[in-house]
Amino acid sequence: MKRISTTSSYYRHRPVDLLTEYTICESFSSEVSPYMTVLEEPRSYGALLGQFLRERGILVPGMRICEAGGGYGSLMRGMLEDWGDMVDGVVMVDLSPYMLKRQKEVLSRWSGKLSFINGDVLEVLPGLSGIDLVIVNEVMGDLPTWVGLDPADLPGEVAQLIERYGLHIPPEGPFNFNLGAVRLVESLSMKRGMTFFLSEHSSDPIFAEDMSYLGRRLNGDGYPREIILHGHSEFTIRFSHLDAVARAHERETAGGPLTEIVGITDSPRNRAVFIGRMTSSDEQEILYELLDHIREYRWMLVR
Ligand SMILES: C[S@@+](CC[C@H](N)C(=O)[O-])C[C@H]1O[C@@H](n2cnc3c(N)ncnc32)[C@H](O)[C@@H]1O
Repeated sequence: MKRISTTSSYYRHRPVDLLTEYTICESFSSEVSPYMTVLEEPRSYGALLGQFLRERGILVPGMRICEAGGGYGSLMRGMLEDWGDMVDGVVMVDLSPYMLKRQKEVLSRWSGKLSFINGDVLEVLPGLSGIDLVIVNEVMGDLPTWVGLDPADLPGEVAQLIERYGLHIPPEGPFNFNLGAVRLVESLSMKRGMTFFLSEHSSDPIFAEDMSYLGRRLNGDGYPREIILHGHSEFTIRFSHLDAVARAHERETAGGPLTEIVGITDSPRNRAVFIGRMTSSDEQEILYELLDHIREYRWMLVR
């Protein structure tokens, strides 16, 4: 039975415990996290993302940033701690009043630079102006997703998007379609001059060239898969669809595995733990768990 899955009422109406979701950003939220032992250069996720954006000439003095779905505020805290001199203003947009309250507390040191909007990213972002960079980190999987579609009987809105952007779908169903993520990329792509960074658990993962072993024992069909979490479900994201949408709007795209941003590279230790499932110490156990989780995550940058 086809239906739209949404998480709106879950986030809007109750306090949310992000620790049950194991986001990559929270795993690397502070330098005392046990996951830091895995990184060559232990720094918070926000600081690492800032470095990544700086190296690509995106983070420059005078930046005005919008972060949508900022959770506990950990990404922005890490970014402002290390790169705050470059940032003139930040707008935090979130559906959850509980998350926004938490963000205000965590980011209180920079209150002069910050403003907060309680709303849906799909409604707020298209109307935003004066922003240079939008960050949407591990949020797209929460946006509305069509579930249980039959390629021969598609809802009109999905059929139009597939035709407009030449999106690949499987010859037979059922399959799931990231309606909200596609709509988000479509609306942001139309905002010339605004760069956006996206990251999420993907349904079509890619691996660093020398780390193709991370693809072992993965068996998805490349289309969004449901992840059942506490009180709601999220869906993995088909990044190749998002890429096609941004390119159709003549935007330049780049992308890669999230291991690149946090600085997990190939090493004898990583190979031994992942391929040989060598988990005889706590540290190896943590590394295995992290590699097994992060390997499906991708980033995408649209300029
Ligand atoms: C899975 S958490 C990710 C939090 C954080 N970005 C991280 O990486 O740890 C999803 C976040 O997006 C927010 N969110 C979910 N759906 C949203 C929507 N439609 N519009 C705005 N925020 C949304 C949630 O309240 C929460 O802050």
